[in-house]
Formats: sequence, structure tokens, C-alpha cells
Amino acid sequence: MPSLFFHDLPMPADESLTHVLNGLRKPLKTISPKYFYDKRGSELFMEITRQPEYYLTRTEVKLLQNYASDISRAVGENCLLIEYGSGSSKKVRILLDSLKPRAYAPLDISRDFLAAAAATLAAEFPWLEVHATCLDYTREFELPFSMDARRIVFFPGSSIGNFNRLDASAFLGRVRKLVGSDGGLLIGVDLKKDKDILNAAYNDANGVTEQFNLNLLSHINNRFSADFNINAFSHAAQYEPDNGCVAMYLVSQADQEVTVSGTCIPFSTGERIHTENSHKYGKEEFLDMAGDAGFSEHYCWTDESNWFGIFFLYSGTGH
Ligand code: AVJ
Repeated sequence: MPSLFFHDLPMPADESLTHVLNGLRKPLKTISPKYFYDKRGSELFMEITRQPEYYLTRTEVKLLQNYASDISRAVGENCLLIEYGSGSSKKVRILLDSLKPRAYAPLDISRDFLAAAAATLAAEFPWLEVHATCLDYTREFELPFSMDARRIVFFPGSSIGNFNRLDASAFLGRVRKLVGSDGGLLIGVDLKKDKDILNAAYNDANGVTEQFNLNLLSHINNRFSADFNINAFSHAAQYEPDNGCVAMYLVSQADQEVTVSGTCIPFSTGERIHTENSHKYGKEEFLDMAGDAGFSEHYCWTDESNWFGIFFLYSGTGH
């Protein structure tokens, strides 16, 4: 019998609306990348990961496959494996058989997507206890269930890149606090590389990233009764070497007014909405940050081109 538990911790809707409106009132309009991930957005992201230019997922999956036993040895058996932004839970499958966690706790903001993915996974791994929780991991939270096991956070995909460098440091500190002195963090990080490779990865020839970016506006329309005209915005993404990040925007193609839950937001032609930053790190730079957050030991696995790194960070006690 598969054992699956579902815990719901929805975001307060009014708080979310205030957050979106505040972002759209800034001099440089901003919408948080968490609004990419409605059901359609989660599907489009999966399609991005299959694009030839988007090397991140492919490279990380290969590292997980090649080093599954090394990683499992470093992490240790019987942990509570907590995945932040689990999506389809595709990558964790590579590790489960060798890692043998006591339980798996996927956390995701996209409720329906999470429920479906957790049910499929629980059926596939009947020996594994699965605790799915719908929540926004970018905020401080505690798990809605207790379990007497070492906590290991799994955060693949270089999603940490969505935070700016300061917020990423704070985030690592919160993870360190959640896992405690006996836990760890297994994290995938996209590394600094040639700008042409980065620009191609966020401007795929099939236009899937463009659709993914524009879908954010459909999500806002549905969720907050807004009337963004998707055809009146275009996709832009570029590596900014000074910030060490790929910045993604939606560019207004006209002078226009958009209503979001009754509030009118004016746009001029060429005006941008910032939708995502995807920060890239040097290996030493990232390890310094991890050290500052209270992780004192580490393992690191990278591909031969040093495009992507998987890091296991822990506090070094009891290991
Ligand atoms: C899921 C945040 C890692 O930054 O590469 C892919 C999201 N955005 N293409 C990334 C994304 C555009 C992705 N992360």
C-alpha cells in the first residue's frame, strides 16, 4: 500500500494580490517568478527542460545518475528528504533507490501539479512514505508534520538562482535552520560560463521560454482578475555580466492600460516588467556563501565543462 499524505498550506490570497500590485507600482515593474507556475506554466517549464539550448536540466540529471551512489553515501540513509519546488519530482527518482530515505516530503506552490506528481510517485515507490505539502518555500515555514529523522533538503535545478545574492544567503541560512545541526542541503547550482551559452538557454529557438514568460500574464489574469493582453507584450532575456545573472523581462509593445483587480496600471511602449533573475555562481563564491550560512562541510560534483554543480552542504557534526 503506497502511503501518501497531503498537507495544504495555501498562501493568503489578499496578501498575494498586495504583493503583485506593489511590484507593478515600482519604477521598474516587477512580478515574482513564482507566478510562472500555474498548471500550464509547470508544463511549459518541463518543455523548456527538453529544449536543446537549455543545458541545465540535462547536465544536472546526468550528474545525479553518474554520482547517485557517491551522493547517497555522503547524505546517509533514513533521512527525511524534503524537496523545495518539487514540480514533477523527476530528479528525485534517480536518487530514491540508492538513498533509501525514511520519507520524502515534496513542497510545491502549484497545488494540482503537486497532488498529481506526489500520487504518481507514491504509487511507483510503495515502500516510501510521501508527505506532499502545498506551500511557498520562499517564505519562512515549518513542516506541518513531525518525524524523528535527519532532515536533508533537496533543492535541484539551480532554482536558488531566482534569489539575488543577498536573498540567496538569507535563504541558505533559513534552510540551515530548518535542517538543524544534524541535517544537510543537496543543491544544484548553475555555474558561471560564456554569455552566448547562457543567452541561448533563455532564448530557445522553439520559443518555449517566450511562451513560459508570457504565460505568467495569463496566470495573473486568471488569479487576480486582470486583463493583460498577452499579444501586447514580448519576451526578452539577457545575461548581465555585472550582476552575474540572466534577467528576464516582458516588454510592452504599446502604450496601454492594464487593470489588475480593479487597479489600473499604465504601460508605455518599450516599458518592461521584470519577471525573473537567474543568478550564476562561481564554485568558490557559492561555497563561501554556504559557509557564511552555517554549513561547514561540503561535497561537490560537476560535469567536465564545469557548467553545473551539485553541492552537498552539511554542518559537519555527527558525520
Ligand atoms: C527553475 C529558476 C532554475 O532560472 O533556469 C527557465 C527557470 N526560466 N527558463 C532557470 C527558467 C526561464 C529556471 N529555474
